Amino acid sequence: MADRFNTFIGWLLFAGIVALGLSAISSRYFLADKHHEIEEWGYPIEGAEEEGGADEGPSLPALLAVADPSAGERVFAKCVSCHTIEQGGPNGIGANLYGVVGEEIAAPRGGFEFSSALKDVGGDWTFEKLDEWLKSPRAYAPGTKMSFAGLSKPEDRADVIVYLNSMGSNLPLPEVQEEPAEDEAAAEGEEAETVAEAETEAEEGAEAELEAAPGE
Ligand code: HEC
Repeated sequence: MADRFNTFIGWLLFAGIVALGLSAISSRYFLADKHHEIEEWGYPIEGAEEEGGADEGPSLPALLAVADPSAGERVFAKCVSCHTIEQGGPNGIGANLYGVVGEEIAAPRGGFEFSSALKDVGGDWTFEKLDEWLKSPRAYAPGTKMSFAGLSKPEDRADVIVYLNSMGSNLPLPEVQEEPAEDEAAAEGEEAETVAEAETEAEEGAEAELEAAPGE
């Protein structure tokens, strides 16, 4: 019994030593590897952060204010397989879009058969609604027959919307309203600048003193 117990302890010790040895060896090799892995993980996370930031980009009115109809005409190349835009143009897979900005959603356009999904949305095509629609037609009007994935770039949507607007609508663009939070930040920024300027002036005026006490 005592013999067996000793054998057991012996094996246990042996196993412990082997385990220690293995972990020492493996940590030497794997730590280097992990370091590598962690470095690589950094990239996708950075990318995700960038994407998140893009979501909180400029507001639609701000984008429209700087949007470019001729850039929008180039974006519209993605639409021409289904839509015409010139006045009196024929309907195709999609309706002619002349003067669509500000018009009733799914208004009868030369007898175009809109889906009930889009007809049920109701109201007029405002800049905001067009932006939502063009971001993802399927999300905006589930069941729509416009089989187009959408324009994911807010700038592309703004450009194409001002282009649509230039074709028969010419509605005034929505006013850019600065968000209160931004206002405060801007005001704070100005204050900080003024303080910084004052400090710089003070520094320039009392260089000798500053040299004596550079920390202040
Ligand atoms: C694959 C064909 C196709 C493409 C590409 C396409 N559309 Fe459409 N579009 C349609 C169809 C079909 C409808 C009608 C949707 C419905 O009735 O549900 C529609 C409807 C619309 C409407 C609503 C018209 C109205 O009078 O209410 C607008 C605006 C529009 N499309 C703009 C665009 C723009 C801008 C693009 C390009 C960025 C585009 N579409 C790309 C097929 C397309």
